Amino acid sequence: MPQTIAVLDFGSQLTQVIARRIRECQVYSKIYHYATPASKLREEGVIGIILSGGPQSVYSKKAPHPDPAIFKLGMPILGICYGVQLMGHFLGGKVAHSQAREYGHGHLTIKRPGKLFARLPRKLLIWNSHGDKLTRLPPGFVATAVSENSPYSGIEDPKRGFYGIQFHPEVFHTERGVDMIRNFLLGVCRAKQDWTTRDFIAHTVNEIRAKVGKSRVLLGLSGGVDSSVAAALLHKAIGRQLTCVFVDNGLLRKGERAYVESLYKRNFHIDLRVVDASTLFLRRLKGITEPEQKRKIIGRTFVEVFEKSLKSIGHADFLGQGTLYPDVIESISIGNNPASLIKTHHNVGGLPERMKLKLIEPLRELFKDEVRSVGAALGLPKEVVWRQPFPGPGLGVRVMGDITAANLEILRNADAVLQDEMMKSGYYYKVWQSFCVFLPIKTVGVFGDERTYDYVIAIRAVESTDAMTADWAKLPHDLLQRISSRITNEVRGVSRVVLDISSKPPATIEWE
Ligand code: XMP
Repeated sequence: MPQTIAVLDFGSQLTQVIARRIRECQVYSKIYHYATPASKLREEGVIGIILSGGPQSVYSKKAPHPDPAIFKLGMPILGICYGVQLMGHFLGGKVAHSQAREYGHGHLTIKRPGKLFARLPRKLLIWNSHGDKLTRLPPGFVATAVSENSPYSGIEDPKRGFYGIQFHPEVFHTERGVDMIRNFLLGVCRAKQDWTTRDFIAHTVNEIRAKVGKSRVLLGLSGGVDSSVAAALLHKAIGRQLTCVFVDNGLLRKGERAYVESLYKRNFHIDLRVVDASTLFLRRLKGITEPEQKRKIIGRTFVEVFEKSLKSIGHADFLGQGTLYPDVIESISIGNNPASLIKTHHNVGGLPERMKLKLIEPLRELFKDEVRSVGAALGLPKEVVWRQPFPGPGLGVRVMGDITAANLEILRNADAVLQDEMMKSGYYYKVWQSFCVFLPIKTVGVFGDERTYDYVIAIRAVESTDAMTADWAKLPHDLLQRISSRITNEVRGVSRVVLDISSKPPATIEWE
């Protein structure tokens, strides 16, 4: 049983971020329901407790409260935001109810560093998001830090190992926040730093085996980072009990299907079924030019093909998915298990219920960069682990106008040139996304002594951190020149290459 830090979840959107920061400190943590009995925490090897934030007021009727016995376990406790108010409420302090929330940057001044603020500067920028606040310290506590809005921004009772902070150390906007968490874990709880990516893999492999038993798991493999890492992890755990399905929708990049087959079938020896549905997709898309209609047809057809292929594979109990934490929408309503509501995955909506499949999502607590580390540790190549995002509807939203086999072929060939040059120059890994778009406009050109009248390819390359906003990437001119001259020379049907210099907003990353 590993030494565990328990994060009691009081419904904050940031609970998973706390868990993530603990992992960054290489310490094992587990998120528990807020009312988990103290005895259970003790039985499970918990050595320290973090009380998360939460949207409620400690006084409200619906307020989630912990088992009061946690304060008698003799274990260190760190209360964050709502967590510190719980400490006030349960240990004899006073919390003032306020209507307005205090939200945003604040300035912290540390008065007594103690163990929590050890080796930190005296003044730090912090991030607040709270309604109520502590107005009287519980007996045994002293104030350790103040902010412009609170004389009790940091409090401690070092004898009992109780620490509280009113702000959020887990968010990026709080300076040295991770150091505060590390100080609690190592300095106060004396946790061992023995939780690495390899430990996560070993632990998850055991969990998957225990859950799956002798059953079979099906997984839709798209070739993107998330489903690839989920496949590799499930395969490590259950080998041939895993069957992956890859749908060729006719809207894939050049060589994609062959690459996926060779990597997963031949290299990883995964039971991979490739379903060629390209004719069906292209037939349904014939004559469709409106972007939303294209997307709907592609989405619906995908679910249909995927469902049919799963049925033909035979009985399975589980559907594996590469859902990551950012895909998980937390329930705000306290009382439900906050992790139980998930976004319906865009490409398999409703499928698990209809087919009576249980979901297995081994990455659902991880963030993207953590998934990449897991993928690398499982032996996936860099091109997969650091792959740029690719939209579900594929080249269907990159061929403007009518999607025909001929237009797709031109786009595929142009895009292959661009990807090759991006890879060779190393820019593939420096930008968020880079791709070609097919424009169904003919322009005049000259090739050798001949007049040509051919299509236009647009280059789209963007920088971004989360795809919510993006800036067009300032690729070097010589790289752009190579891409352009190779496309017009090597790709039949293209006489002109243009560069998209729009940012998001107002433009989107994809053209449709
Ligand atoms: P936009 O075009 O909205 O794209 O700026 C933002 C990011 O999302 C990707 N994208 C999709 N991904 N299914 C996906 O899985 C989709 O339907 C889809 N549409 C856009 C896009 O490539 C970019 O990274």
